[in-house]
Amino acid sequence: MKGGVLITFEGIEGSGKSTHLHLAEEFLRAEGLPTVVTFEPGATPLGRELRQLLLSATLPLQPLAELFLFLADRAEHVRQVIKPALEAGKVVLCDRFVDSTTAYQGYGRGLDLAFVKEGNRRATGGIWPRLTILLDCEVEVGLARTRGVDRFEEEGVEFHKRVREGYLRIAEEEPLRVKVVDSSHRPKGEVQGEIRGILRGFLEEWASGGL
Ligand code: TYD
Repeated sequence: MKGGVLITFEGIEGSGKSTHLHLAEEFLRAEGLPTVVTFEPGATPLGRELRQLLLSATLPLQPLAELFLFLADRAEHVRQVIKPALEAGKVVLCDRFVDSTTAYQGYGRGLDLAFVKEGNRRATGGIWPRLTILLDCEVEVGLARTRGVDRFEEEGVEFHKRVREGYLRIAEEEPLRVKVVDSSHRPKGEVQGEIRGILRGFLEEWASGGL
């Protein structure tokens, strides 16, 4: 069997991406595809430690230090989890990946975008998603669905608006890879239906060797 494929789910807090990722997993398994689900930050032993630091609402963390910790998590995650799964021919679904860093540390915190891109490239060793589902949702709607207890949930509306705009910019720049799915005011079933349609089309092309 040929190598696997990496599909990522992205979006602001409360956009529903984790829920939809798990529904997508059910769909892929039902289709008989060998599927691995993973997430960032925190999917490795190092990552679990980093996650505590990154999400702490009380530990001071400079934006640049925050960037490096997310990249450290990714460097470990790619080599320990994602790359081996891809080499084993799996469909890897990842909850947040490189676009989170561009959206949050780049657009949200205002760090240099070219530097963030280079950091992502180094951390991943060039392993890049072939498809990204971006759950787009109004900031006020998303934040109302979260509890506001971690470093990012505590940030103000303006920060999350920059993150959302950043995501939409990424989608504009890479329309073939990044598919925007509106999750603001639609029933869950309808949103998931759209996601499954995207996945079906993508996987057909992948299976036929078109990707
Ligand atoms: P998590 O509890 O996993 O949030 P969610 O359920 O919204 O995915 O927390 C991850 C937080 O870390 C989230 O607020 C986004 C942020 N983050 C970044 O700022 N940069 C990154 O590169 C990644 C992976 C996450």
